[in-house]
Amino acid sequence: MKKILVTGCNGQLGRAIQKEYGSSVEFILTDMIDMEGIIKLDISNLEQVMDVARTQKPDVIINCAAFTNVDGCEVHEDVAFKANAIGPRNLAIASREIGAKLIHVSTDYVFEGNGTRPYVETDEPNPISAYGRTKLAGEKFVQQFADRFFILRTAWLYGDGKNFVKTMLKVSKNHDEVTVVDDQVGSPTSAVELAKMIHFLEGTESYGIYHATCEGSTNWAEFTEEIYRLMGVKTKVKHVTSEEYKAMNPASADRPHYSILEDQMLKATTDKFLMADWKDAIKAYLDGFDMSTLD
Ligand SMILES: NC(=O)c1ccc[n+]([C@@H]2O[C@H](COP(=O)([O-])OP(=O)(O)OC[C@H]3O[C@@H](n4cnc5c(N)ncnc54)[C@H](OP(=O)(O)O)[C@@H]3O)[C@@H](O)[C@H]2O)c1
Repeated sequence: MKKILVTGCNGQLGRAIQKEYGSSVEFILTDMIDMEGIIKLDISNLEQVMDVARTQKPDVIINCAAFTNVDGCEVHEDVAFKANAIGPRNLAIASREIGAKLIHVSTDYVFEGNGTRPYVETDEPNPISAYGRTKLAGEKFVQQFADRFFILRTAWLYGDGKNFVKTMLKVSKNHDEVTVVDDQVGSPTSAVELAKMIHFLEGTESYGIYHATCEGSTNWAEFTEEIYRLMGVKTKVKHVTSEEYKAMNPASADRPHYSILEDQMLKATTDKFLMADWKDAIKAYLDGFDMSTLD
C-alpha cells in the first residue's frame, strides 16, 4: 500500500487530504502538536524531518504545513520564513534522499497583483507581503533540492478549520453590517477541490508548478455576499477599497489587487480533470453548514 506522509495534518488542507484518500493509502500523519496517532514534527527542524523520513520511508510527502496568517507573517517574518521556506527546503532534501515524490502547496500571494490578465505558472512572481516572500522562498528551495516535485499554488482556501467564510458568518451573528474590500480579485478555493487535484497529480509523473484554484473569480465583498445569500444571512456588506480598509486596520498586510491564476499547466497536462467553479464549491461547502458550530 502507498505510504503518504502528511505534514500539518490538522490544518484545513491536511484534513481534506485525509478525507480525499480515505483508507486507500497508509498515512503517516504529522503536525506540530503532541496527539495520539500523530507524529510530532516541526518541518523547520531538519534533524526531525530527516529522522521521520528515514524511519517512515514514505512514497509521497504532502506538505500541508505553513504559517498561513498573512498579517501575522508581517510581524513575525522570521518565524514565517522558518515554516514557509526552511520547512519545504527540509522536506525537499528528505524527499530526494528517500526517493519520495514531494507535493508542496504555495499561494497566489507570490504575485504582485497589478496584472490585467490571469497569471500563468511561468509569469514572474513578485510578492508584496512577508507571507508571499516566505512562500516564494519555499517554492525556490523545493525546485532547488527536490528531484520529483509538484508545487501547487492555491488561493483563498477554506475547509475544515479557521477561514474567511467562517469568520464572516460568525461576525454576521452580531452585526447588521460588515465592511469588506471589493478591489481585490481572486478565486475562493475549497480544500476539498484542492485535495482532489493533489490526488490526481500525485498519481502522475507530470512534475512542475501548477495553478490550483477553483474556476471563476470574485472579490472579497462579493464573496461575502454569496456566502450570506447561501446561508440566508441578512447582514449587509459595505464595500470599501483596500486603502479605506488599511486606514481602519493599519497592521493589515498589503495584498494583491488581482491574483487570478490560470491553470495553464493542468490544462496542458490533462483534459480529464478540472477544479469546480468557485460558486459550486462554496455551495457544496455550506450545504448543511451548522451556524451553531461557530459559537
Ligand atoms: N488558507 C489560505 O487561504 C491559503 C491561501 C493560499 C495558499 N495556502 C496554502 O495552502 C496550504 C494549506 O493551508 P491551510 O489553510 O490548510 O493551513 P492551516 O489550516 O493554517 O494549517 C497549517 C497547519 O500547519 C501547521 N504548522 C505550522 N507551522 C508548522 C511547522 N513549522 N511544522 C509543522 N506544522 C506546522 C499548523 O499548526 P498550528 O495551527 O499549530 O500553527 C497547522 O496545523 C499552505 O501551504 C498555505 O500556505 C493557504
